[in-house]
Amino acid sequence: MLIDSHCHLDRLNEESSGDTNTILNRARAAGVEKFLCIATNLDGFDAVIDIALEHNDVFCSAGVHPLQKHQVKVDYQRLIQQARHEKVIAVGETGLDYYYSPDNAELQRESLTIHIQAAREVNKPLIIHTRDAQQDTLSIIRQEKAQSVGGILHCFTESFDMAKEAVELGFYISFSGILTFKTAQKLREVAKAIPLDRILVETDCPWLAPVPFRGKENQPAYVVEVAKQLAELHNLSYEDIAQQTTSNFYQLFPQCAS
Ligand code: NI
Repeated sequence: MLIDSHCHLDRLNEESSGDTNTILNRARAAGVEKFLCIATNLDGFDAVIDIALEHNDVFCSAGVHPLQKHQVKVDYQRLIQQARHEKVIAVGETGLDYYYSPDNAELQRESLTIHIQAAREVNKPLIIHTRDAQQDTLSIIRQEKAQSVGGILHCFTESFDMAKEAVELGFYISFSGILTFKTAQKLREVAKAIPLDRILVETDCPWLAPVPFRGKENQPAYVVEVAKQLAELHNLSYEDIAQQTTSNFYQLFPQCAS
């Protein structure tokens, strides 16, 4: 058992990875039992919800990614309407990315605030992307009381201090294939230090394929490599890490457990 807590199934290239059924079957055969398919903008929501409605083991989110530059201001009512859907279990991905997009930081902060308000209104956890924006992310989380719904800091690459604060606020820390990269020694130290009951695994596919699949399009079956790496870091068996991260996911999303 394993869960891909963050994938973009609507973005996979059929020519390189096969159609959605093929991709999901490959992952199921590798032991992946649930998939959280992440929306990146409101216009793209239909594609995401369609996949979730078609497969019992796929759930999805509603939200606008911080790097969607063309989004001027997030339409709150539209976001709420999407977020209320039964198969939508989380709000996001939202967040702050000052690494790739420092120029519209103000807009990103406004968008994160709107997403937290929406998450609290529909009472669903948040999916948060954060890069080079540790302090602002944490202070907006606090200011808007995001801890009342909790959520995931996804594709985590920031410091242990940030992870620790987020965990204290009730958030989970999700690791992607980056954890397997040669250059990610520092991140592996962070992953080693985070309490096991707060760790999740994800692919963030089609991006960030883990070792030994770098250069290929990423897909949910490869989440196995992230779990293997975590098992090694924590000196546990692969089965133990798979079970622990899966039960963590169900702790946050109990409605997915059945
Ligand atoms: Ni993503």
